[in-house]
Parts: sequence; C-alpha cells; structure tokens
Amino acid sequence: MTTDSPDTRGSWGSKLAFIFAASGSAIGLGSIWRFPIMVGLNGGAVFVFAYILAVILIGFPLMLTELTIGRHTQKNPVGAFKTLKPGTPWKLVGYMGVITGVCILSYYSVIASWGVGYLYKTLIGAFQGEMTWTRSDQIFSSFTANPVQVLICFLVVIALTTFVISRGVKGGIERWSKILMPMLFILIIIMAIRALTLKGAGPGISFYLKPDFTKINPRLLFYAVGQAFFSLSLGMGTMITYGSYISKEENLSSSAGWVCFSTTLVALLSGIIIFPTLFATPGINPQEVQASTGLMFQVFPLIISKLPGGYVFGVLFFILLFVAALTSTISLLEVPTAFLIDEHKWRREKAATVIGAAAFILGIPSALSNGASPWLTKINLMMKMDLVFGNIMLAVGGLLITIFVAYVWGIPQALKEISHGTPRFKIKPLWIFSVKVLSPLAIIAILVFTIFFA
Ligand code: PHE
Repeated sequence: MTTDSPDTRGSWGSKLAFIFAASGSAIGLGSIWRFPIMVGLNGGAVFVFAYILAVILIGFPLMLTELTIGRHTQKNPVGAFKTLKPGTPWKLVGYMGVITGVCILSYYSVIASWGVGYLYKTLIGAFQGEMTWTRSDQIFSSFTANPVQVLICFLVVIALTTFVISRGVKGGIERWSKILMPMLFILIIIMAIRALTLKGAGPGISFYLKPDFTKINPRLLFYAVGQAFFSLSLGMGTMITYGSYISKEENLSSSAGWVCFSTTLVALLSGIIIFPTLFATPGINPQEVQASTGLMFQVFPLIISKLPGGYVFGVLFFILLFVAALTSTISLLEVPTAFLIDEHKWRREKAATVIGAAAFILGIPSALSNGASPWLTKINLMMKMDLVFGNIMLAVGGLLITIFVAYVWGIPQALKEISHGTPRFKIKPLWIFSVKVLSPLAIIAILVFTIFFA
C-alpha cells in the first residue's frame, strides 16, 4: 500500500505492488512447510496432481471472485457483504472470515516462530558439521519441547506482525519483499537442484512425481482443496481485503493468475527439496516421518549442510523464510484489523494490538503442543487447529463466497466489475463454470464425504 498513515484506506502504488503484496500473503509457510506435509499425508504424487487441479479449477476462480468483491465494495469482508446485501445474514460469512483469520494467525505464528528459532540456531552454528537425520530430528524436537524458547520466539513473531500492522507500514515491508522474495526463490531453486542430484534421490522423486491414481479418495481431495485455499490465502476474505485496495485500471484476472502461478511454483519446489532429500538420507523410514509436523525443519538443514557455504546459505535462507512468513501473518492480521477499523471505528493501533494479543493467547496451547505439554502433544492440538480452521473453515468460507457471487450478488454484476481493467476476459467461460457449478458442487461433495463418511 502506498499509505503510511494509520487511519486512511490506501491503495496499491502500481500493478506490480499489488501482485507483490498478494503473493506476499499467499507465498509463505503454506507452500514451504504445509504443502510437503499434505503430500506426505496423502500418498505423494497423486496429491500433487490433485492440488494443481484444485488451484486451477477452484482456487484461481475463487481468488478472482474475492478480488472482485473487494475492489467493487472497497471494504473488509464484513463490510463488503453488508454493502452488497444489506440487512441479510450474508455478513456472517465476513465474520466467519475474521474469526478464521485470528485462529489461523494463532498457530501459523507458532510455525513462523520455529523459523525464528532456526535462524538463531543457524547463526550460533548449531547446524555446523556433519548433519545426520538423528541429529536434525533431535535439534527439532528439543527446540519445540522447550516452552520458554518457543514462547519467546512466538511472542517475537506476534509482536512484529502487530507492530507492522498497527503502524500501517505494510508498504515498507512490501517494498522490501520485492527484493527478498525473488531471493528466496533463487535459494529454493538452488536447494531443489542439490536435492535432485543427491545419491539415492530416485525413490523420493518417484514418490513425489509419479502419481498412483488408484490412491485418489475423497479425503485426499478434501486436503487438496484445503491446501489450495490455505496456500492462496482464500476462503476468509484476505483477497477481499487486499482487493479493496486495488485500482479500477488493474487487470484482476491476470493479477490473480500471477499470484496463483508463483505460489504453486514455490510449493512444488519445496516438495522437490523435501522428498528426494528425505528418501536419500540414511537412517530414516520415510513412511514414518513424511507427514510429521516438523518435516520442513527436520529436512532443510540436511540439504543446507550439503551446499558449499552452508552456514551463510542457512542464515540467508531462514531470514528469507521469516520474511515470507511475516508477509503472510501480516495479511492474516490485516483482515480482522480492517474490520474493526471500518465497522467499529477503532484506531488502527488499538485494533491491531487487541487482535495480536488475542492471537497470542489463543496460540499458546498450539505452541506447547509439540513436545512441551505431553497432553497437548498427544492430541496434536496444532494440527487439529489447522484441520478445523486451515481446511474446513476456509473450504466452507470459499463455498459461501462462491455461492454468494453466483446466486445472490449475480454473475453479471461481478463481470461488470472484472471488465474494468480487463477488457478481454479470456477465461470467462472457465470462471463462470467454476463459480456457478464446479466449485460449489465439488466443495459440498468433498465436505460431506469427508465429514460423514471418512
Ligand atoms: N497463504 C498463506 C501461506 O501459505 C497463509 C494464509 C492463509 C494467509 C489464509 C492468509 C489467509 O503461508
């Protein structure tokens, strides 16, 4: 955003500024940390295939839909529904998004805080010398089992996010991320190449890229759609909020396309790093660990240690990972903050601080659920939060937003808004088909099957 003044609704400086901000929200731990876990949990390549389909057929159209609502109403999710259908319960979809945002922020920041811990560990040389699986696994588990360390890092993430949002200085971060995100991308490519050239990478590559279509089932599709929504920041109104800052000249369709493309690419590359490395590392049974919560943190140090200049590379990587996570936590906090400012006339500082504090308190059990508290660990609370808010709530939110545009607000209205800045809307048939038929049916079917039959 171009504004640095706290209370005004700003707008993005240029087309690229918007694409960077939206990609900043999208690209983050969802692609780098969560995607490989989902691949591991759902049998490998067949999930990768389902995820790509979900992005193209459901995610991309929904992103365009959310941006359209946002730009048309210039409002936060609650305000947007109130503007389009005043006096109806549709505003509840907006409220749902606000709540989901706070809940995702609570555990997402815990994962981001592991990144902070890892940056510190890399700096003090904890990963120097020969890295084995046992050593890497031990470093991870002893870190996450230490409540003091984890909570301090968690506080750092929430405090920084709150600071950025409360000062309205997102624009500054976004300017920086224009340089830092491409750097992260280059580092990831280097790691991917190294992973592909490891001795014994073959089985990992086949696991990740050779689909076994007999493994397709409703649960897998549920996770694929959930992952598409999570990684693209959809289903809770983030893109409605971001869209509200876009100008009428902007081509919404191509912007959405770029965001989806870059996010998917990062996710695919993250898997290319993880699976070959995992399968090529001695002393592991990949099946046992391929869906572990710490997968990324256990595996990345192994490959970093195999690169020339591993120390510097590691430091740089964890700095950039942190920036990628921060541009996502910022977008998660922006939704409830914009809601309180617009709808309840709160000051920006107050709104951001109250929500930040709430997310911190709410996140404490998640922070303790990876070894620090035996009971929370046993019920795997963090991944339960992720299942409920990161998968189910986003899917339900996405479903309702889609139904709203297709059958309540109306396709013609949406098309009129899209046509500003997009004179030739090439994928119009795909978008209409997805919004009217495919997305609602697919999401309903998947939710029903998974909740009642799986
Ligand atoms: N898309 C972000 C990521 O992948 C997470 C996120 C989800 C952000 C939902 C905003 C809304 O890291």
